[in-house]
Amino acid sequence: MKPYVICHMISSLDGGLHPSRWSKSPDGVRGDWHRVYEEIHQDLAGDAWIVGRVTMAEMSKAEPHPPAQAGAVDRSRHVAAPGAESYGIALDPGGKLHFNAGDVGGDHAIVVLGPDVPDSHLAELVADGVSYLVSDSAEFDLGTVLDRLASEFGIRRLLIEGGAGICGSFFAAGLVDEFSLLVAPALDGRAGHQTIVEFGEVGLADKVRLTFSGCDALRNGLVHLRYAVTPP
Ligand SMILES: NC(=O)c1ccc[n+]([C@@H]2O[C@H](COP(=O)([O-])OP(=O)(O)OC[C@H]3O[C@@H](n4cnc5c(N)ncnc54)[C@H](OP(=O)(O)O)[C@@H]3O)[C@@H](O)[C@H]2O)c1
Repeated sequence: MKPYVICHMISSLDGGLHPSRWSKSPDGVRGDWHRVYEEIHQDLAGDAWIVGRVTMAEMSKAEPHPPAQAGAVDRSRHVAAPGAESYGIALDPGGKLHFNAGDVGGDHAIVVLGPDVPDSHLAELVADGVSYLVSDSAEFDLGTVLDRLASEFGIRRLLIEGGAGICGSFFAAGLVDEFSLLVAPALDGRAGHQTIVEFGEVGLADKVRLTFSGCDALRNGLVHLRYAVTPP
């Protein structure tokens, strides 16, 4: 069964994605806002979080280091830590991410890969203690990805945590159940700045319906908004 999916993001008042580009506020600084974001992450009680390749690359900065002699690898899946308590997952169709260990910030790492990744890359992930799933198709079927994360890793409650592209593609596929948005007292304001949810030229206007479910004023000028997400 598909995990329950919550998209959890923080934005400026004009929807900006990059906190480093936001105006400053006497109510708090970026670090304060990030701490509150992490506290709500804990409260949302996911057993896994998932991010795009670019966002994971900011957390895992290892260089390529394929093993000199790689044995046979499983081209479908590898479960490196059966029964792990929590997971950090990345969509990495081209196998561009590298790891120095099998966890990211204490959560066991899983990479979702495209069908063309070389065996040497799979062998590197195995050697690093990282789990992986290989998609059958170059364009990921995100519903199938979620089903496999549930059946092969036991994931029941998943937080989607950016960036814009992965949020957009999960919303567009109708796979998000809830949207948790922290809004900071800041503006980005650049023309064409990247927003927290993006889905190409098509957009999401006819793909989602949001129903308000609650809001809290938090410390450091942050407002936490929650919405139920259903198909249109
Ligand atoms: N405000 C927030 O709450 C928040 C949260 C997280 C991150 N961020 C910021 O967001 C920025 C990155 O966002 P981003 O949108 O540029 O990148 P991203 O979503 O982190 O990564 C995009 C990449 O992930 C892969 N990907 C995403 N969706 C996919 C799909 N449906 N199927 C297959 N592959 C998929 C692709 O990798 P390939 O390019 O390899 O094909 C894509 O180019 C970072 O600077 C980060 O700091 C902000």
